[in-house]
Formats: sequence, C-alpha cells, structure tokens
Amino acid sequence: MAEALLSVRGIHTYYGDSYVLQGLSLEQRAGTIVAILGRNGMGKTTLIRSVAGLTPPREGEIHFKGASLRGRPPYAIAQSGIALVPQGRRIFRSLSVRENLLLPTSGLARPGKGRWNLRAVLDEFPQLEERIAHMGGSLSGGEQQMLAVGRALMSNPDLILMDEPSEGLAPKLVKHVGEIMKSMRDHGHAVLLVEQNFALAMSVADYIYVVSAGRFVFEGTPQQLEREPEILDQHLGVARAH
Ligand SMILES: Nc1ncnc2c1ncn2[C@@H]1O[C@H](COP(=O)(O)OP(=O)(O)OP(=O)(O)O)[C@@H](O)[C@H]1O
Ligand SMILES: [Mg+2]
Repeated sequence: MAEALLSVRGIHTYYGDSYVLQGLSLEQRAGTIVAILGRNGMGKTTLIRSVAGLTPPREGEIHFKGASLRGRPPYAIAQSGIALVPQGRRIFRSLSVRENLLLPTSGLARPGKGRWNLRAVLDEFPQLEERIAHMGGSLSGGEQQMLAVGRALMSNPDLILMDEPSEGLAPKLVKHVGEIMKSMRDHGHAVLLVEQNFALAMSVADYIYVVSAGRFVFEGTPQQLEREPEILDQHLGVARAH
C-alpha cells in the first residue's frame, strides 16, 4: 500500500485537565475522503484541531507526508499543505469576498503549487463571482460555506480538514457540499471530513471512523458500516433500515 498522506498514531489530547482524545489512530491516503462520525461532544473537532496544530496532542504522533508535526505551530502546518475549513465557517464578515479569498495568499501562499488561484476558484463557484465585492457577512449560509472552501483551496492544500460543512445548511445545499467534496477529491485533494450528517458522509466517504468519548468504536467502508446495526443505533442514532 502507498504510504499514508496523514498518519495519526495513538494521540491523546487534553484541554487543560480535561482528557478528550483517548488514543486515536487513523490513516489517510492522498486523494481520498475519510469521514469522522459521532455524536455531539465526542471529540471530532478536537481531532481536527489536533491535526491542524491548534490543540496539539500531549502523547502520540501525527505524520503528514512522512514528517512529524510535533512541535510545529499551526501556520507551519498550514504551509506544509493542510487547510482548515472550521466548524461554523469563520469567514471574515467585514471583508469582501475577494479579500476573504486572497487572505491565504498573503504569507501562507504556496504559489505555483497547484491549480487553484482566484480565477479557478471563481470558476468553481460562480455564485462567489457574482458577490465578489460583497461583505462576507452579507452572504447566505451556503455562500459562506463556498467561500470557506474556496479560501481553503487558495493555498493549494494536499489535505483539507472540513468540520461539519453541512451544519445549518438547507438539504439542497448539503447535496452541493457533497458534490464539492467529490470534486475536491477528483482534483487530487484529500478531505478529512467531520460530520453529523450521516447520509452525506455515507455518500461521499471512501472510509469512515466512528468516534465515541474520544475513542474510535468503528472503522471501515460505508458498506461495512451499513452492516453494523449496533454502531449505527448506539453511536450515530440512525434507525435500522429493517
Ligand atoms: N476549549 C475547550 N475547553 C475545554 N473543553 C473543551 C473545549 N472544547 C471542547 N471541549 C470538550 O471536549 C469534548 C469534545 O469536544 P469537541 O468539540 O471535540 O466535540 P465534537 O465531537 O466536535 O462535538 P460537536 O458535534 O458538538 O461539534 C467535549 O466534552 C467538549 O465539552
Ligand atoms: Mg465539533
């Protein structure tokens, strides 16, 4: 098997005395979508934050493209090719769409490292072009999500961390977010997706991990997860199909 793009080995992550991630390991290959599913408060965002260097694990190792991320600050991790689309989107409300998109290119840029630039992002999301001069805060939820994804793409990342991109979006837009992720994969980016939307994760992911109280209780393909009624029922609140 090809070497993993991202390899998380036995990480333990805390907020102060609060022990959240209790020994998580995962592997992700380039150009794949891996989804992390689990109920509220189980540690999904903490995993994303651990990888991005925002809440580094106290024990365990994270390797990206074969190099350890230990001790590296978030900006250095971003520069190495990891982009974050945070939960709640976190775009700059009082900057224009154009300014939001161009921000990652000031300092964090990896110019010439890939296909994404302002033109390519606007071609991917024509709705953003229509609103190019509007303030981020005036966009609809769906448009803000496109902006957050577009902003992540501007740094031409190898891996995009997406924390609940479907949260608060209407069903039609959830479908669009799914299409965006598949398109990212088709362009060779890996996506590590955190979701509570079970149907969305099942429809896009190549591989799924289910987290409960800081530990993985399942890993496998969507097809394998479908055959685990107890996991679905206990950890995901999904009713059995039959
Ligand atoms: N900054 C923090 N300080 C202390 N505890 C925190 C902090 N952030 C999260 N926690 C706690 O860590 C645990 C895991 O939180 P986390 O945000 O990773 O969950 P989550 O799976 O992303 O939940 P959600 O689906 O609600 O986004 C929870 O018990 C939460 O209360
Ligand atoms: Mg979260």
